[in-house]
Amino acid sequence: MDGMAQDDDLRVRPVEWADGALVLIDQTRLPGELRRVRIEDVDALVAAIRSLAVRGAPALGVAGAYGVALALRQGAREGWDRPRLLAAVERIRRARPTAVNLARGTDRAAARLAEGFEAVLEEAEAVRREDLAANRRLSELGADWLLRTVGHDRPLRLLTHCNAGALATAGWGTALGVVRELHRRGRVELVYVDETRPLLQGARLTAWELGQEGIAHLVQADSAAASTILYQGVDAAVVGADRIAANGDTANKIGTLAVALACARAGAPFMVAAPTTTVDAAIPDGSAIRIELREPDEVTGTGRDRTAPADSAGFNPAFDVTPGGLVDALATELGVAEVARGELPGRVWGSVL
Ligand code: MRU
Repeated sequence: MDGMAQDDDLRVRPVEWADGALVLIDQTRLPGELRRVRIEDVDALVAAIRSLAVRGAPALGVAGAYGVALALRQGAREGWDRPRLLAAVERIRRARPTAVNLARGTDRAAARLAEGFEAVLEEAEAVRREDLAANRRLSELGADWLLRTVGHDRPLRLLTHCNAGALATAGWGTALGVVRELHRRGRVELVYVDETRPLLQGARLTAWELGQEGIAHLVQADSAAASTILYQGVDAAVVGADRIAANGDTANKIGTLAVALACARAGAPFMVAAPTTTVDAAIPDGSAIRIELREPDEVTGTGRDRTAPADSAGFNPAFDVTPGGLVDALATELGVAEVARGELPGRVWGSVL
């Protein structure tokens, strides 16, 4: 089963299994350098997840699933007993807390541990393949919904926050998948890209992906978003998600809530695009979502340069929760739920979730 990624039309393969190891695009180096790294042990995978070399909820799910195969292989090499193997899997599962896909992908592959390496790898490959298929379908459904709802016959002006593109998934994208689908239909005029402080996933990654696709875009400071939405004729905002509660409350990159509030004020649709693997029906509402707090120095400086006074402390939540009442549309591969109108993820899809 080694070296089996088959999706030849994919330009970006952020996470794949090749020649007996996990191969990641190191997203911390983009856009300057498209560098692939081989991950051969659990410590290296946990470090890659924490440093955001691999990131984005669905990509984390795929990495977690392959991580179980990696742990099994390392365990065989180093003579681990079962408790040690399970502890290693648990470290991968908990490397970041907010994206439900990481735990879910890891659990799926771990459920086949007793069947051995090939079965675990097969399950991880299924997680990757299914994410691709879900992304493609939700992109079509999301694009259909936007065109139906916004109703213009001219190309759209869109806004996105963070990176919910090919890099953040198995290789297609959720929010950027919708944008790419609209572009394919000739219906994108311009995308405003929030830079996404502090780690600049928008300026570095989303802008890079849109550039690769030839999609017109403008990078702006996060603090410009509200004004752009209210006064620059934005037709809709489209973002991804890290965890969606049963009532539609949605955790996504810090700053998403401000975009949703501005959309509500402007009357512009706010769309969350995510596979159903990001819906956590066990959580009734967003208050139960654990928000990752990252190192303060990510906000008290830029890169290695300190910008705040040396004795100022920093506050660095990586995500916020947008109330479901502000989510006009939740585009998934099973359909689009109009959450703000009362269509809850659980109610719409019932036992599937
Ligand atoms: O901290 P990150 O870069 O992993 O945060 C990613 C996001 O917030 C994405 O919008 C989300 O995971 C959806 S990715 C399709």
